[in-house]
Amino acid sequence: MKYAIVTYGCQMNSADSGLMAAVLDGSGWRPAESRDEADLIVLNTCSVRERPEHKAYSLLGELREWRRSRSAAVLAVSGCMAQRAGEHILARAPHVDIIIGTRHFHRIAELAARVSRGERPLVELGTDDDPSDWRCGAAAAVAAARLRAFVPVIRGCSNFCSYCIVPRVRGSEASRAAHDIEREIESLVSRGTREVTVLGQNVLAYGRDLPEGLTFAQLLERLEGIDGLWRIRFTTCHPRDVSDGVVRAIAGLSKVCEHIHLPIQAGTDRLLEEMNRGYTTEHYLDVVTQLRSRVPAIAISTDMMVGFPGETEEDFCRSLRLYERIRFDSAFTFAYSPRPGTAAAGRPDQVPRQTRLARLSRLIELQNQIAIEVNQRRVGEEVELLVDGTAHRGRGLLSGRTRTNKQTLFAGDTHLIGTLANVRLVKAHLWGFMGELLVQGQTL
Ligand code: SAH
Ligand code: SF4
Ligand code: F3S
Repeated sequence: MKYAIVTYGCQMNSADSGLMAAVLDGSGWRPAESRDEADLIVLNTCSVRERPEHKAYSLLGELREWRRSRSAAVLAVSGCMAQRAGEHILARAPHVDIIIGTRHFHRIAELAARVSRGERPLVELGTDDDPSDWRCGAAAAVAAARLRAFVPVIRGCSNFCSYCIVPRVRGSEASRAAHDIEREIESLVSRGTREVTVLGQNVLAYGRDLPEGLTFAQLLERLEGIDGLWRIRFTTCHPRDVSDGVVRAIAGLSKVCEHIHLPIQAGTDRLLEEMNRGYTTEHYLDVVTQLRSRVPAIAISTDMMVGFPGETEEDFCRSLRLYERIRFDSAFTFAYSPRPGTAAAGRPDQVPRQTRLARLSRLIELQNQIAIEVNQRRVGEEVELLVDGTAHRGRGLLSGRTRTNKQTLFAGDTHLIGTLANVRLVKAHLWGFMGELLVQGQTL
Protein backbone atom coordinates (compact mmCIF):
# COMPACT_ATOMS: atom_id res chain seq x y z
CA MET A 1 0.00 0.00 0.00
CA LYS A 2 1.43 3.33 -1.07
CA TYR A 3 0.81 6.93 -0.04
CA ALA A 4 1.45 10.42 -1.38
CA ILE A 5 1.29 13.65 0.61
CA VAL A 6 0.80 17.05 -1.03
CA THR A 7 1.82 19.90 1.28
CA TYR A 8 0.71 23.54 1.16
CA GLY A 9 1.64 26.37 3.53
CA CYS A 10 4.39 26.99 6.02
CA GLN A 11 7.30 25.06 7.50
CA MET A 12 5.07 23.88 10.33
CA ASN A 13 2.91 22.14 7.74
CA SER A 14 6.01 20.61 6.12
CA ALA A 15 7.05 19.34 9.54
CA ASP A 16 3.56 17.87 10.05
CA SER A 17 3.70 16.20 6.63
CA GLY A 18 7.04 14.66 7.58
CA LEU A 19 5.42 13.36 10.71
CA MET A 20 2.50 11.83 8.82
CA ALA A 21 4.93 10.20 6.39
CA ALA A 22 6.87 8.67 9.26
CA VAL A 23 3.69 7.43 10.96
CA LEU A 24 2.58 5.81 7.68
CA ASP A 25 6.05 4.31 7.10
CA GLY A 26 5.85 2.85 10.60
CA SER A 27 2.48 1.26 9.81
CA GLY A 28 3.64 -0.61 6.72
CA TRP A 29 2.87 2.03 4.09
CA ARG A 30 5.42 3.02 1.44
CA PRO A 31 5.79 6.34 -0.41
CA ALA A 32 4.35 6.29 -3.94
CA GLU A 33 6.39 7.48 -6.92
CA SER A 34 3.35 9.13 -8.50
CA ARG A 35 -0.24 9.93 -7.63
CA ASP A 36 -1.48 7.19 -9.97
CA GLU A 37 0.44 4.63 -7.99
CA ALA A 38 -0.92 5.84 -4.62
CA ASP A 39 -3.60 4.08 -2.58
CA LEU A 40 -3.77 6.97 -0.12
CA ILE A 41 -3.45 10.66 -0.98
CA VAL A 42 -3.28 13.27 1.76
CA LEU A 43 -3.64 16.98 1.03
CA ASN A 44 -2.05 18.83 3.96
CA THR A 45 -3.65 22.21 3.48
CA CYS A 46 -3.14 25.89 4.33
CA SER A 47 -5.76 28.54 5.03
CA VAL A 48 -3.66 31.64 5.51
CA ARG A 49 -4.75 33.19 2.20
CA GLU A 50 -7.41 32.36 -0.35
CA ARG A 51 -4.95 31.04 -2.93
CA PRO A 52 -3.69 27.91 -1.17
CA GLU A 53 -7.32 27.01 -0.42
CA HIS A 54 -8.23 27.38 -4.10
CA LYS A 55 -5.31 25.23 -5.08
CA ALA A 56 -6.38 22.50 -2.66
CA TYR A 57 -9.97 22.53 -3.92
CA SER A 58 -8.81 22.43 -7.50
CA LEU A 59 -6.59 19.41 -6.79
CA LEU A 60 -9.51 17.75 -4.99
CA GLY A 61 -11.51 18.26 -8.20
CA GLU A 62 -8.76 16.64 -10.25
CA LEU A 63 -8.67 13.70 -7.85
CA ARG A 64 -12.38 12.92 -8.25
CA GLU A 65 -11.65 10.45 -11.06
CA TRP A 66 -8.67 8.95 -9.22
CA ARG A 67 -10.90 8.23 -6.24
CA ARG A 68 -13.87 7.01 -8.29
CA SER A 69 -11.83 4.48 -10.21
CA ARG A 70 -10.36 2.91 -7.06
CA SER A 71 -12.85 1.51 -4.60
CA ALA A 72 -10.14 0.77 -2.00
CA ALA A 73 -8.40 4.15 -2.24
CA VAL A 74 -8.40 6.73 0.56
CA LEU A 75 -8.43 10.51 0.09
CA ALA A 76 -7.66 12.65 3.14
CA VAL A 77 -7.61 16.41 3.73
CA SER A 78 -5.56 17.49 6.74
CA GLY A 79 -4.19 20.72 8.18
CA CYS A 80 -5.45 24.27 8.47
CA MET A 81 -8.10 24.30 5.73
CA ALA A 82 -9.47 21.02 7.06
CA GLN A 83 -9.69 22.61 10.50
CA ARG A 84 -11.35 25.76 9.16
CA ALA A 85 -13.81 24.33 6.66
CA GLY A 86 -14.42 20.95 8.31
CA GLU A 87 -17.46 19.12 6.94
CA HIS A 88 -18.06 21.86 4.35
CA ILE A 89 -15.27 20.24 2.38
CA LEU A 90 -17.47 17.16 2.03
CA ALA A 91 -20.25 19.23 0.46
CA ARG A 92 -17.88 20.42 -2.27
CA ALA A 93 -15.90 17.20 -2.53
CA PRO A 94 -17.97 14.21 -1.38
CA HIS A 95 -15.26 11.84 -2.59
CA VAL A 96 -13.07 12.87 0.38
CA ASP A 97 -12.83 10.08 2.96
CA ILE A 98 -11.04 11.76 5.88
CA ILE A 99 -11.00 15.31 7.23
CA ILE A 100 -8.34 15.63 9.86
CA GLY A 101 -7.60 18.84 11.75
CA THR A 102 -4.38 20.37 13.00
CA ARG A 103 -4.12 18.35 16.22
CA HIS A 104 -4.86 14.82 15.04
CA PHE A 105 -2.76 14.23 11.92
CA HIS A 106 -0.60 11.70 13.77
CA ARG A 107 -3.65 9.42 13.63
CA ILE A 108 -3.56 9.22 9.82
CA ALA A 109 -2.67 5.50 9.61
CA GLU A 110 -5.39 4.46 12.06
CA LEU A 111 -8.01 6.56 10.25
CA ALA A 112 -6.99 5.24 6.82
CA ALA A 113 -7.37 1.68 8.15
CA ARG A 114 -10.88 2.48 9.37
CA VAL A 115 -11.85 3.83 5.94
CA SER A 116 -10.54 0.60 4.39
CA ARG A 117 -12.93 -1.27 6.68
CA GLY A 118 -15.82 0.73 5.22
CA GLU A 119 -16.18 3.55 7.77
CA ARG A 120 -16.42 6.82 5.86
CA PRO A 121 -16.32 9.75 5.93
CA LEU A 122 -14.32 10.36 9.12
CA VAL A 123 -14.03 13.88 10.54
CA GLU A 124 -11.55 14.62 13.38
CA LEU A 125 -11.43 18.29 14.35
CA GLY A 126 -10.98 18.41 18.15
CA THR A 127 -8.63 21.20 19.21
CA ASP A 128 -7.39 20.01 22.60
CA ASP A 129 -3.63 19.69 22.61
CA ASP A 130 -2.78 16.03 22.54
CA PRO A 131 0.60 15.23 24.10
CA SER A 132 0.80 11.94 22.21
CA ASP A 133 1.03 14.10 19.10
CA TRP A 134 4.30 15.55 20.43
CA ARG A 135 5.82 12.17 21.33
CA CYS A 136 4.88 10.82 17.98
CA GLY A 137 6.32 13.90 16.34
CA ALA A 138 9.68 13.24 17.95
CA ALA A 139 9.80 9.61 16.88
CA ALA A 140 8.81 10.52 13.35
CA ALA A 141 11.33 13.29 12.94
CA VAL A 142 14.08 11.02 14.17
CA ALA A 143 13.12 8.34 11.68
CA ALA A 144 13.46 10.85 8.85
CA ALA A 145 16.68 12.51 10.05
CA ARG A 146 18.50 14.61 7.47
CA LEU A 147 21.41 17.03 7.53
CA ARG A 148 19.00 19.88 8.26
CA ALA A 149 15.85 19.25 10.27
CA PHE A 150 12.81 21.24 11.42
CA VAL A 151 11.81 20.81 15.04
CA PRO A 152 8.48 22.29 16.15
CA VAL A 153 8.78 23.52 19.75
CA ILE A 154 5.56 25.48 20.17
CA ARG A 155 2.29 24.99 18.35
CA GLY A 156 -0.59 27.39 17.84
CA CYS A 157 -0.72 31.14 18.32
CA SER A 158 -2.44 33.26 20.95
CA ASN A 159 -2.04 36.61 19.22
CA PHE A 160 -5.11 37.33 17.11
CA CYS A 161 -3.70 39.71 14.54
CA SER A 162 -6.88 41.05 12.98
CA TYR A 163 -6.25 39.59 9.49
CA CYS A 164 -5.01 36.15 10.51
CA ILE A 165 -6.74 32.78 10.54
CA VAL A 166 -3.87 30.88 12.19
CA PRO A 167 -5.01 31.15 15.85
CA ARG A 168 -8.44 29.91 14.81
CA VAL A 169 -7.14 26.87 13.00
CA ARG A 170 -4.10 26.05 15.11
CA GLY A 171 -5.46 26.85 18.56
CA SER A 172 -3.64 28.67 21.35
CA GLU A 173 0.05 28.37 22.13
CA ALA A 174 1.25 25.05 23.53
CA SER A 175 4.97 24.52 24.19
CA ARG A 176 6.80 21.23 24.31
CA ALA A 177 8.79 20.26 27.37
CA ALA A 178 12.43 21.29 26.89
CA HIS A 179 13.83 17.85 27.70
CA ASP A 180 11.64 16.30 24.95
CA ILE A 181 13.04 18.79 22.47
CA GLU A 182 16.60 18.06 23.61
CA ARG A 183 16.06 14.29 23.38
CA GLU A 184 14.62 14.66 19.87
CA ILE A 185 17.51 16.78 18.66
CA GLU A 186 20.08 14.43 20.26
CA SER A 187 18.51 11.52 18.38
CA LEU A 188 18.48 13.53 15.16
CA VAL A 189 22.15 14.38 15.65
CA SER A 190 23.05 10.74 16.30
CA ARG A 191 21.58 10.01 12.85
CA GLY A 192 23.44 12.76 11.02
CA THR A 193 21.48 16.00 11.52
CA ARG A 194 23.83 18.96 11.94
CA GLU A 195 21.46 21.94 11.71
CA VAL A 196 18.06 22.36 13.33
CA THR A 197 15.45 25.03 12.72
CA VAL A 198 13.36 25.42 15.81
CA LEU A 199 9.79 26.19 14.72
CA GLY A 200 6.74 27.98 16.02
CA GLN A 201 4.15 30.45 14.69
CA ASN A 202 5.52 32.68 17.39
CA VAL A 203 8.61 30.86 18.54
CA LEU A 204 9.67 33.59 20.99
CA ALA A 205 6.55 32.84 23.05
CA TYR A 206 8.11 29.46 23.84
CA GLY A 207 7.85 28.40 27.46
CA ARG A 208 5.31 30.94 28.71
CA ASP A 209 2.69 28.24 29.09
CA LEU A 210 5.04 25.71 30.73
CA PRO A 211 4.89 25.18 34.50
CA GLU A 212 8.70 25.55 34.72
CA GLY A 213 8.44 28.99 33.06
CA LEU A 214 11.39 28.59 30.68
CA THR A 215 12.13 31.37 28.17
CA PHE A 216 13.06 30.92 24.53
CA ALA A 217 16.55 32.28 25.20
CA GLN A 218 17.00 29.64 27.90
CA LEU A 219 15.87 26.96 25.48
CA LEU A 220 18.52 28.13 23.00
CA GLU A 221 21.16 27.91 25.74
CA ARG A 222 20.17 24.33 26.45
CA LEU A 223 20.26 23.39 22.77
CA GLU A 224 23.72 25.01 22.42
CA GLY A 225 25.01 22.27 24.73
CA ILE A 226 24.07 19.39 22.40
CA ASP A 227 27.27 17.71 21.17
CA GLY A 228 27.51 17.13 17.44
CA LEU A 229 24.95 19.82 16.59
CA TRP A 230 26.59 22.60 14.55
CA ARG A 231 23.90 25.13 13.82
CA ILE A 232 20.67 26.35 15.39
CA ARG A 233 18.10 28.47 13.54
CA PHE A 234 14.65 29.54 14.65
CA THR A 235 11.55 30.97 13.04
CA THR A 236 9.28 32.91 13.16
CA CYS A 237 9.71 35.85 15.55
CA HIS A 238 7.13 38.37 16.69
CA PRO A 239 8.85 41.79 16.92
CA ARG A 240 7.14 42.49 20.26
CA ASP A 241 8.85 39.49 21.84
CA VAL A 242 12.50 40.10 20.91
CA SER A 243 13.87 40.39 24.45
CA ASP A 244 17.34 41.37 25.51
CA GLY A 245 17.89 37.68 26.31
CA VAL A 246 17.12 36.70 22.71
CA VAL A 247 19.55 39.32 21.31
CA ARG A 248 22.19 38.11 23.77
CA ALA A 249 21.61 34.49 22.71
CA ILE A 250 22.11 35.33 19.01
CA ALA A 251 25.18 37.39 19.82
CA GLY A 252 26.73 35.02 22.33
CA LEU A 253 25.83 31.42 21.49
CA SER A 254 28.18 30.08 18.84
CA LYS A 255 25.72 27.63 17.27
CA VAL A 256 22.88 30.13 16.94
CA CYS A 257 23.07 31.51 13.39
CA GLU A 258 23.18 35.21 12.53
CA HIS A 259 19.76 35.38 10.92
CA ILE A 260 16.36 36.44 12.19
CA HIS A 261 13.00 36.34 10.44
CA LEU A 262 11.12 39.30 11.87
CA PRO A 263 7.77 39.94 10.15
CA ILE A 264 7.01 43.66 10.05
CA GLN A 265 3.66 43.36 8.18
CA ALA A 266 3.10 47.12 7.75
CA GLY A 267 4.99 50.38 7.94
CA THR A 268 2.66 52.83 9.69
CA ASP A 269 1.57 52.92 13.30
CA ARG A 270 -2.11 53.18 12.40
CA LEU A 271 -2.00 50.04 10.25
CA LEU A 272 0.04 48.15 12.85
CA GLU A 273 -2.49 49.08 15.48
CA GLU A 274 -5.44 48.07 13.31
CA MET A 275 -3.67 44.82 12.58
CA ASN A 276 -3.41 44.31 16.35
CA ARG A 277 0.32 43.66 16.05
CA GLY A 278 1.19 45.10 19.45
CA TYR A 279 4.22 47.22 18.41
CA THR A 280 4.95 50.54 16.74
CA THR A 281 7.29 51.33 13.86
CA GLU A 282 9.60 52.94 16.41
CA HIS A 283 9.76 49.75 18.45
CA TYR A 284 10.47 47.73 15.31
CA LEU A 285 13.32 50.06 14.29
CA ASP A 286 14.68 49.88 17.80
CA VAL A 287 14.79 46.08 17.68
CA VAL A 288 16.57 46.21 14.30
CA THR A 289 19.12 48.71 15.64
CA GLN A 290 19.84 46.57 18.70
CA LEU A 291 20.23 43.43 16.62
CA ARG A 292 22.53 45.09 14.11
CA SER A 293 24.68 46.76 16.74
CA ARG A 294 25.14 43.60 18.84
CA VAL A 295 25.30 41.13 15.91
CA PRO A 296 26.89 43.09 13.03
CA ALA A 297 26.79 40.19 10.55
CA ILE A 298 23.08 39.52 11.10
CA ALA A 299 20.72 39.04 8.14
CA ILE A 300 17.18 40.22 8.73
CA SER A 301 14.27 38.91 6.67
CA THR A 302 10.62 39.80 6.99
CA ASP A 303 7.00 39.29 5.99
CA MET A 304 5.16 42.31 4.63
CA MET A 305 1.52 42.64 3.66
CA VAL A 306 -0.02 45.28 1.40
CA GLY A 307 -3.63 46.28 0.84
CA PHE A 308 -4.87 45.77 4.40
CA PRO A 309 -8.38 47.32 4.75
CA GLY A 310 -8.20 51.11 4.91
CA GLU A 311 -4.62 51.28 3.54
CA THR A 312 -4.40 54.53 1.54
CA GLU A 313 -1.86 55.36 -1.15
CA GLU A 314 -0.19 57.58 1.43
CA ASP A 315 0.00 54.76 4.01
CA PHE A 316 1.49 52.53 1.37
CA CYS A 317 4.13 55.11 0.35
CA ARG A 318 5.06 55.64 3.99
CA SER A 319 5.42 51.88 4.42
CA LEU A 320 7.71 51.76 1.39
CA ARG A 321 9.87 54.55 2.81
CA LEU A 322 10.27 52.74 6.13
CA TYR A 323 10.96 49.55 4.26
CA GLU A 324 13.66 51.24 2.22
CA ARG A 325 15.25 52.55 5.38
CA ILE A 326 15.47 49.13 7.04
CA ARG A 327 16.93 47.28 4.03
CA PHE A 328 15.88 43.68 4.56
CA ASP A 329 18.00 40.85 3.23
CA SER A 330 14.89 39.14 1.92
CA ALA A 331 11.14 39.17 2.34
CA PHE A 332 7.97 37.21 1.84
CA THR A 333 5.52 39.73 0.44
CA PHE A 334 1.76 39.29 0.31
CA ALA A 335 -1.38 41.01 -0.89
CA TYR A 336 -3.93 41.03 1.91
CA SER A 337 -6.50 38.26 1.52
CA PRO A 338 -9.70 38.47 3.60
CA ARG A 339 -10.14 35.36 5.76
CA PRO A 340 -13.68 34.53 6.85
CA GLY A 341 -14.23 34.96 10.57
CA THR A 342 -11.31 37.35 11.15
CA ALA A 343 -11.92 40.91 12.37
CA ALA A 344 -10.39 42.58 9.30
CA ALA A 345 -12.49 40.56 6.83
CA GLY A 346 -15.65 42.21 8.18
CA ARG A 347 -14.44 45.76 7.53
CA PRO A 348 -16.30 47.80 4.92
CA ASP A 349 -13.15 49.60 3.68
CA GLN A 350 -11.55 46.71 1.77
CA VAL A 351 -8.93 47.80 -0.77
CA PRO A 352 -9.84 46.77 -4.35
CA ARG A 353 -8.02 43.66 -5.54
CA GLN A 354 -6.35 45.45 -8.46
CA THR A 355 -4.91 48.07 -6.09
CA ARG A 356 -3.65 45.37 -3.73
CA LEU A 357 -1.92 43.54 -6.57
CA ALA A 358 -0.43 46.74 -8.03
CA ARG A 359 1.02 47.68 -4.63
CA LEU A 360 2.40 44.19 -4.22
CA SER A 361 4.30 44.51 -7.54
CA ARG A 362 5.79 47.82 -6.42
CA LEU A 363 6.87 46.31 -3.11
CA ILE A 364 8.44 43.29 -4.81
CA GLU A 365 10.34 45.51 -7.21
CA LEU A 366 11.74 47.54 -4.32
CA GLN A 367 12.67 44.44 -2.32
CA ASN A 368 14.47 42.87 -5.30
CA GLN A 369 16.52 46.01 -5.77
CA ILE A 370 17.41 46.13 -2.05
CA ALA A 371 18.21 42.41 -1.82
CA ILE A 372 20.72 42.50 -4.64
CA GLU A 373 22.39 45.61 -3.21
CA VAL A 374 22.56 44.04 0.26
CA ASN A 375 24.14 40.91 -1.23
CA GLN A 376 26.58 42.89 -3.37
CA ARG A 377 27.89 44.53 -0.25
CA ARG A 378 28.86 41.12 1.13
CA VAL A 379 30.93 40.11 -1.90
CA GLY A 380 34.52 39.49 -0.83
CA GLU A 381 33.55 38.18 2.62
CA GLU A 382 34.83 34.79 3.77
CA VAL A 383 31.95 32.75 5.14
CA GLU A 384 31.21 29.30 6.51
CA LEU A 385 28.83 27.10 4.53
CA LEU A 386 27.00 23.98 5.57
CA VAL A 387 27.25 22.06 2.30
CA ASP A 388 23.93 20.35 1.72
CA GLY A 389 24.09 18.91 -1.78
CA THR A 390 24.65 19.52 -5.45
CA ALA A 391 23.20 22.64 -7.02
CA HIS A 392 20.02 22.67 -9.11
CA ARG A 393 21.28 25.70 -11.00
CA GLY A 394 24.81 25.43 -12.37
CA ARG A 395 25.83 21.87 -13.18
CA GLY A 396 28.66 20.28 -11.27
CA LEU A 397 28.46 22.83 -8.47
CA LEU A 398 27.86 22.21 -4.80
CA SER A 399 25.33 24.15 -2.78
CA GLY A 400 25.43 25.31 0.80
CA ARG A 401 23.95 27.86 3.17
CA THR A 402 25.80 30.62 4.96
CA ARG A 403 25.05 31.19 8.63
CA THR A 404 22.98 34.14 7.42
CA ASN A 405 20.86 31.61 5.46
CA LYS A 406 21.95 32.58 1.95
CA GLN A 407 22.31 29.93 -0.67
CA THR A 408 25.86 29.82 -2.08
CA LEU A 409 27.12 27.72 -4.99
CA PHE A 410 30.75 26.75 -5.51
CA ALA A 411 32.92 24.23 -7.31
CA GLY A 412 34.09 21.42 -5.04
CA ASP A 413 34.27 17.68 -4.56
CA THR A 414 31.09 15.86 -3.48
CA HIS A 415 32.87 14.51 -0.38
CA LEU A 416 32.30 18.02 1.05
CA ILE A 417 28.54 17.38 1.23
CA GLY A 418 27.54 17.21 4.87
CA THR A 419 30.57 19.20 6.06
CA LEU A 420 31.30 22.82 6.88
CA ALA A 421 33.36 24.56 4.20
CA ASN A 422 34.83 28.05 4.03
CA VAL A 423 34.25 30.03 0.86
CA ARG A 424 34.82 33.52 -0.38
CA LEU A 425 31.72 35.17 -1.83
CA VAL A 426 32.60 36.24 -5.37
CA LYS A 427 29.33 37.20 -7.07
CA ALA A 428 25.97 38.35 -5.73
CA HIS A 429 22.59 37.30 -7.10
CA LEU A 430 19.06 37.89 -5.91
CA TRP A 431 18.89 34.29 -4.67
CA GLY A 432 22.33 34.29 -2.99
CA PHE A 433 25.95 33.98 -4.09
CA MET A 434 28.56 32.27 -6.19
CA GLY A 435 31.55 31.42 -4.02
CA GLU A 436 35.08 30.03 -4.19
CA LEU A 437 36.28 27.30 -1.88
CA LEU A 438 39.04 28.27 0.54
CA VAL A 439 41.44 25.75 2.00
CA GLN A 440 43.34 27.05 5.01
CA GLY A 441 42.38 30.55 3.96
CA GLN A 442 43.57 30.02 0.34
CA THR A 443 41.42 29.82 -2.77
CA LEU A 444 41.88 26.44 -4.47
N1 SAH B 1 3.20 33.90 12.94
C1 SAH B 1 3.82 34.58 11.89
C2 SAH B 1 3.03 34.60 10.61
C3 SAH B 1 2.44 33.35 10.08
S1 SAH B 1 1.49 33.54 8.64
C4 SAH B 1 4.01 36.03 12.33
O1 SAH B 1 3.22 36.59 13.03
O2 SAH B 1 4.95 36.59 11.88
C5 SAH B 1 2.73 34.02 7.47
C6 SAH B 1 2.50 35.34 6.84
O3 SAH B 1 1.34 35.33 6.05
C7 SAH B 1 2.27 36.48 7.80
O4 SAH B 1 3.45 36.99 8.31
C8 SAH B 1 1.54 37.49 6.96
O5 SAH B 1 2.44 38.37 6.31
C9 SAH B 1 0.85 36.63 5.92
N2 SAH B 1 -0.59 36.61 6.16
C10 SAH B 1 -1.25 36.17 7.23
N3 SAH B 1 -2.58 36.37 7.08
C11 SAH B 1 -2.75 36.94 5.86
C12 SAH B 1 -3.87 37.40 5.12
N4 SAH B 1 -5.11 37.31 5.61
N5 SAH B 1 -3.65 37.92 3.90
C13 SAH B 1 -2.41 38.03 3.39
N6 SAH B 1 -1.32 37.62 4.04
C14 SAH B 1 -1.47 37.08 5.26
FE1 SF4 C 1 -1.14 35.13 12.69
FE2 SF4 C 1 -0.36 37.16 14.16
FE3 SF4 C 1 -0.30 34.70 15.17
FE4 SF4 C 1 1.41 35.39 13.28
S1 SF4 C 1 1.31 36.27 15.33
S2 SF4 C 1 0.22 33.51 13.36
S3 SF4 C 1 0.22 36.75 12.00
S4 SF4 C 1 -2.12 35.85 14.62
FE1 F3S D 1 -0.96 28.03 6.43
FE2 F3S D 1 -1.60 26.83 8.59
FE3 F3S D 1 0.91 27.43 8.13
S1 F3S D 1 -2.75 28.43 7.66
S2 F3S D 1 0.75 29.26 6.91
S3 F3S D 1 -0.30 26.02 6.98
S4 F3S D 1 -0.13 27.45 10.08
